[in-house]
Amino acid sequence: MNSKHKERGITLYGEEGFAGMRKAGSLAAAALDLMVEHVKPGVTTDELDDIIMDFAKANDAIPATLNYRGYTKAICTSVNHVVCHGIPGPKPLREGDIVNIDVTLIVDGWHGDTSRMYGVGEIPRKAERLLDVTYEALMRGIAAVKPGHTTGHIGAAIQNFAEAERCSVVREFCGHGLGRQFHERPNILHYGVEGEGVELKPGMIFTIEPMINIGKAAVKVLPDGWTAVTRDRQLSAQFEHSVGVTEEGCEIFTRSLKGYDRPPYLG
Ligand code: MF3
Ligand code: CO
Ligand code: CO
Repeated sequence: MNSKHKERGITLYGEEGFAGMRKAGSLAAAALDLMVEHVKPGVTTDELDDIIMDFAKANDAIPATLNYRGYTKAICTSVNHVVCHGIPGPKPLREGDIVNIDVTLIVDGWHGDTSRMYGVGEIPRKAERLLDVTYEALMRGIAAVKPGHTTGHIGAAIQNFAEAERCSVVREFCGHGLGRQFHERPNILHYGVEGEGVELKPGMIFTIEPMINIGKAAVKVLPDGWTAVTRDRQLSAQFEHSVGVTEEGCEIFTRSLKGYDRPPYLG
């Protein structure tokens, strides 16, 4: 995999791309590791955003969301029934909240995109269960990544698992190709049928980022144009990794070096 070329509009990256993604991905993961000690009752999501902004600067990285289509923050912070794209603000987090923090850092032109869920203090049992189901859904999607499979295998693995756990899969947002760009082809749907969609080839790089709801799948976007919430106002969760397809399966670029990939972050 030394060359970089396109397969029906999808970039196949070589060793240089994988090396770049390793660096960007692990820095994004380290930014999320840093959040573990800061997410607690009373902290505002604006404060979390400031911390990530400083972390990015100190590491010669640029948050990809800054000035992206009019977005002005370094992270998205999606609390409780917010599905994704929650905008950091002055409201403090409260004991029992769950929050997704989503960060994309650009390092030497490569984009590392990852998100995790955090519990604020003690969280309700049903919230804990949703976090477990959502993390497992992501990992099942990742386990379906290998040459010869299609994007539909990924979606089916996620959907079949989440629905068997009596949860629902958000349809309006999907994973995406990335690398030199923040969002590129292919789209990675988190539902679907094995064999449908795009055939996976070594060198493809994309995110998998399922949003899983306790209640119904339906979402709406608030008038701010970004914040997506569940229509039934029940809890939603999301985890995201950036991965690259290899000959055997895939490499996860955004793994935590501290073992903090999933709560309760005991290391
Ligand atoms: N990081 C998000 C993703 O996983 C995208 C956020 S776009 C923003 O694709 F502008 F809302 F930040
Ligand atoms: Co993404
Ligand atoms: Co993201």
